[in-house]
Parts: sequence; structure tokens; C-alpha cells
Amino acid sequence: RKTPAQQLRTILIGPPGAGKGTQAPRIRDEFCVCHLATGDLLREQIAKNTALGQMAKKIIDAGELVKDEIMVDMIKDQLENNKACKNGFVLDGFPRTIGQAEKLEAMLEARGEKLNSAVELVIPDQLLIARITGRLIHPASGRTYHKEFQPPKKPMTDDVTGEPLIQRSDDNVETLTKRLTTYHKQTAPVVDYYKKKNLWAPIDAARSPNVVWENLCKIFREGPQSS
Ligand code: AP5
Repeated sequence: RKTPAQQLRTILIGPPGAGKGTQAPRIRDEFCVCHLATGDLLREQIAKNTALGQMAKKIIDAGELVKDEIMVDMIKDQLENNKACKNGFVLDGFPRTIGQAEKLEAMLEARGEKLNSAVELVIPDQLLIARITGRLIHPASGRTYHKEFQPPKKPMTDDVTGEPLIQRSDDNVETLTKRLTTYHKQTAPVVDYYKKKNLWAPIDAARSPNVVWENLCKIFREGPQSS
């Protein structure tokens, strides 16, 4: 049975490999909200070979961030036009800069809405290399596996559709190192932004996916101050 609809509006903040894309679909399904992953939205543009996709590919493969205005417009468009977002949302990979956080707040205020929580998935950098270099993706659904920690039933094959799994072009040690530097420089300040707003809820993301999930549910049921 699904948890009753109660307008969950939350964001997941964490470095590459922290588990945002692993947990967010579970949140979407359990709380009946939309899952907006800005990385996935950009990769859709890359797959369609649009002008935005071509520009984003270079930035993503360099481990840098796409411009705030582009990302803010993308989220605004989704919140306004994606019917699945009527009941609330989980944002995965946004906001990633203070500028994006401020714009999100203004955007929600104009809709008469507020975030319920800003969850930080806390994990030491040294655990992320193994997670990222072993990650396998089913592009059509966004399902994520890991060669070692969460292997598919059949190697390189999606459990549900039987379609092939891929590795992301930015999931190599060199690009990951740049993504981590970008995270610490540009996204870590976003955590302080939400601490000041009393929305910050930290979670130990080094634990197993099921333990992380239980702790997330506790925050969503009891509020950010419960963690
Ligand atoms: P994005 O796609 O958002 O990538 P990211 O933030 O680097 O995060 P990842 O998707 O790599 O990690 P994740 O936390 O989702 O980990 P996962 O759950 O898969 O962004 C890509 C790029 O797009 C950015 O670099 C930037 O250029 C651009 N971009 C995106 N948004 C932007 C924005 N707002 N502004 C500007 N630019 C933007 O887990 C990883 C692996 O670990 C998996 O294999 C999983 O199975 C395994 N795993 C997960 N949890 C556990 C666990 N608890 N124990 C063991 N293994 C686990």
C-alpha cells in the first residue's frame, strides 16, 4: 500500500555516487511524487542530439556544471507542465549552486509552496570511486545497478526489460575527480544554505541502500529535525 499523498517536496544533495539516483525512484513510488533528475534530463537532450545536448555533453564530460539559467528553466518547465509533479516532487541533482537554490525558493514561493526538507547524503570521497566505476545504467528507465554491490540477475542486462545496460561516459576516475572538486566547491555551500533555513537533514549514505531508505522515510514522516 502506498503512503497517503501528503505533498512531499524534497531535494537530495550529495556527491556523485552518494545514492541520489538509487533512492529517488523509490521515493517517487512510495510517496507518489515526481522524480526530477537534472542529470537525466540533460542526458535525454544528449541522446536526442539537440543543441543543448551537444553543449551539455562537453560540460558533463569535463566534470563541470551547466549554466544556472538553463537548469532553472528546465526545473521550472517540469514543475509547471509535468502532471506527475502535482502531488509533490523529489529533486535529484538540483539545486547544485546557491544561485539555483535561491531561484528554486522564489519559484516555489510564487506557487505558494515550500520545501519540506533538504536531505544531504553524507559519504566520504574515497567510497565513491568504487561506486561510480562499477555503476551500470538502464538508460530508458534510469534504473541503476552496480557490478559488485547490486548486480543485475544477468550480466549487463536490465532485470525488468532484458535490454542492455550501459556505463556513463563521465563515470571514469579522471572525470569523477573533477566532479568531486566541483561538488565541494559549488554544491557544498548549498548545504549551509538549507541549514540556515532549518530544512537540512543529514543521512549516513555509506550504509546499505535499505538502511539509507529507512532513514529517508523517517525524515519524510517526522520532518528534517528528526535526523
Ligand atoms: P548527475 O547525473 O546528477 O550526476 P551526479 O550528481 O554526479 O550523481 P550520480 O548520478 O553520479 O550519482 P548518484 O548519487 O545518483 O549515485 P547512484 O545512486 O547512481 O549529473 C551529471 C552531470 O550533469 C553533472 O556533472 C553536471 O555536469 C550536469 N548537471 C546535472 N545537474 C546539474 C545542475 N543542477 N546544474 C548544473 N549542472 C548539472 O549510485 C552510484 C552507484 O553506487 C550505483 O551503482 C549504485 O548501485 C551504488 N550504490 C548506491 N547506493 C549504495 C549503497 N548505499 N551502498 C552500496 N552501493 C550503492
